[in-house]
Amino acid sequence: MLQNAQKVQKNAYAPYSNFKVGAALVAEDGNVYSGCNVENAAYPLGQCAEAGAIASMIGHGCSKITKILILSPNSDFCPPCGGCRQKIKEFATSATQVILSTQDGKTKQVSIAELLPLAFDLN
Ligand code: THU
Repeated sequence: MLQNAQKVQKNAYAPYSNFKVGAALVAEDGNVYSGCNVENAAYPLGQCAEAGAIASMIGHGCSKITKILILSPNSDFCPPCGGCRQKIKEFATSATQVILSTQDGKTKQVSIAELLPLAFDLN
């Protein structure tokens, strides 16, 4: 996952924030799907790296995230934004691992329940 995230992070389109993020996830088919952030001159239209990885997973016919890694562009962790927490939750189970990684090799693992307590769910 780390290698996939590193590869797409290089291609992130982040001319406004200069904050390139890479995300890579393992789905139920065992394959890795990745995405980077894609910003826009109309700022709210920018898309986070996690959303790209999820879209790639869905496009390949999968819908369960076993684990997802989010690679920050610096030595601080980049925990997913609020919207991405909800997007990850949509395809997560209680066992889904969210792994935060930094450029200097630090990692931290958290669960979606820790990231999004009292989450909204229609079920
Ligand atoms: N960003 C992500 O791609 N994922 C996150 O979880 C947090 C933020 C992006 C959005 C924007 O392009 C840049 O980082 C700065 O906010």
